[in-house]
Amino acid sequence: MTERRPHALDLFRLDGRSALVTGASRGLGLVMAEALAEVGASVCISSRSPDAASEAARALAAATGARVVGVAGDVSTPDGVERLARHTAETFGTVDILVNNAGVNIRGNIGDLSDADWDTVLDTNLKGPFLVARAFGPAMCARGWGRVINLSSMLATIALPGRAPYASSKAGVTALTRVLALEWASAGVTVNAICPGPFGTDMNRQLLQDPEKYHAFVQKLPVGRWGELHEIKGIAVFLASEASSYVTGASFAIDGGWTAQ
Ligand SMILES: NC(=O)c1ccc[n+]([C@@H]2O[C@H](COP(=O)([O-])OP(=O)(O)OC[C@H]3O[C@@H](n4cnc5c(N)ncnc54)[C@H](OP(=O)(O)O)[C@@H]3O)[C@@H](O)[C@H]2O)c1
Repeated sequence: MTERRPHALDLFRLDGRSALVTGASRGLGLVMAEALAEVGASVCISSRSPDAASEAARALAAATGARVVGVAGDVSTPDGVERLARHTAETFGTVDILVNNAGVNIRGNIGDLSDADWDTVLDTNLKGPFLVARAFGPAMCARGWGRVINLSSMLATIALPGRAPYASSKAGVTALTRVLALEWASAGVTVNAICPGPFGTDMNRQLLQDPEKYHAFVQKLPVGRWGELHEIKGIAVFLASEASSYVTGASFAIDGGWTAQ
């Protein structure tokens, strides 16, 4: 008898699933939230600004027809994550898919960076994913299915001057991903990381507005260009869906070949 195998495209559907994407009022988070909504998930969008989260949710619901809710919550503090978890439970419900996307970058050579700069980046980019995973992961384990997707960076692998807090935080995210993957593998919860190269979001406004810096990046990119925002969609849907059921603890470079060099 031949084994009945699911149709390849059905593996990517997220009908009936619910997703929380942190830091999704704009940038890559918003595009990943859009992707998850487009393939059937209901989506909760969070950011520090309640107005920005609500407005992004309203626009995304109108564009996709999906159920989309906006909630406020600062991922960098235990109180903020406690509020995020409470608002999400009250206004959205349970979460099957968590995208730990909220992030910040403060650039500068080490002698020019303050303690507060270091703390802001590490608290948001590394402690944030820890706090949010701890708030939502155990319930996924109890239900026997879940997906955690952490936004790391190509800077977890390669170095650039002026990026000490950011690169350190993202290397930590990659390590956190692997540890959580081991802790939750037997409970049906996968944990993976996306490591983007340069995309034209607000985070990179400084580089986008400086032609010299912008082109210096282009020259280092084997594909010869920055990423387009929609190019993050495929990996987000893959890691959120059944299509990646045997993938955990892995990191995926979406960087135009930069880290292949
Ligand atoms: N763009 C790139 O080239 C690139 C490359 C590699 C990795 N990444 C990673 O991809 C993720 C998204 O980056 P992006 O470029 O899309 O950034 P972005 O455009 O600057 O957007 C950042 C988002 O995070 C939210 N946010 C910031 N701090 C937060 C906090 N403490 N709590 C909750 N939300 C917070 C922001 O909303 P509020 O300000 O309202 O809170 C916003 O929605 C980040 O983790 C980043 O490190 C980006």
